[in-house]
Amino acid sequence: MEIIILPNEDAVAKRSADLVESQIRAFPDTVLGLATGSSPLGLYRELINRHRDHGLSFQKVRTFNLDEYVGIPADHTQSYRTFMDDNLFKATDIDLSNTHVPDGMAENPLDAGPTFEKKIAETGGVDLQVLGIGTDGHIGFNEPTSSLRSRTRLKTLTKQTVEDNSRFFGPDEFQPKLAITMGIGTILETRRILMIATGDNKAQAVQDMIEGPISSICPGSALQLHERVTVILDEAAAQNLKYQEYYQHVSEIQDELVKKHRPSDWIAR
Ligand code: GLP
Repeated sequence: MEIIILPNEDAVAKRSADLVESQIRAFPDTVLGLATGSSPLGLYRELINRHRDHGLSFQKVRTFNLDEYVGIPADHTQSYRTFMDDNLFKATDIDLSNTHVPDGMAENPLDAGPTFEKKIAETGGVDLQVLGIGTDGHIGFNEPTSSLRSRTRLKTLTKQTVEDNSRFFGPDEFQPKLAITMGIGTILETRRILMIATGDNKAQAVQDMIEGPISSICPGSALQLHERVTVILDEAAAQNLKYQEYYQHVSEIQDELVKKHRPSDWIAR
């Protein structure tokens, strides 16, 4: 894993956007895997700025979102479809028919996963997957004990995740406890992964993901099995890392060398 530790959320947003932008400029029809939640919000804000001010075009970009709640319609204020429309898609030139979110209202939710997997396969697979991590170490909605080979499927959320996400729902509003999520196996098949984590409340999950054993108890730790993962952290999220100094030292020493010999190293495909 490449670990990049930056002073604050703003720096994390800008660096993440640099990486996504270079991918889209190299391959305008890039297939992006996208995440919801607060972690990628800064990245999306930056991408919108670059679209508006620097001509970054999403016209040919295809997207697949990691997950969606079951039981609320796509146009519900808290659906992940609405989140993506409001926080990225509507402010860019993306063709909405190229954007895919699992169907949380499928008549048979057990079919929604395989249908989504088929669509991903038809586009040739995800080039770059954006991820956040839950406080319990989940990625997408793959909660602790999810199979490390799991595919897109129906999952029951843990109490902790429901509580973490309750801030988005009104006190009397129905809050889903089920979701359709890409599996850990699905995520591991993407060509490149960008994991973003910020804030004190992520420090333990981040340490387990990077330095803990590979275990379904921390689904994020499965990323240790992927060849091309970049983790971008702010100092708060990085605070528990035992090898923090080493990661910073690696960035300083390696950056120059990589820039010189492989300026496009970041690009996936
Ligand atoms: C949510 C989403 C994940 C997200 C994670 C962290 O429940 N399903 O995709 O990465 O939990 O959320 P946040 O970034 O808001 O902390």
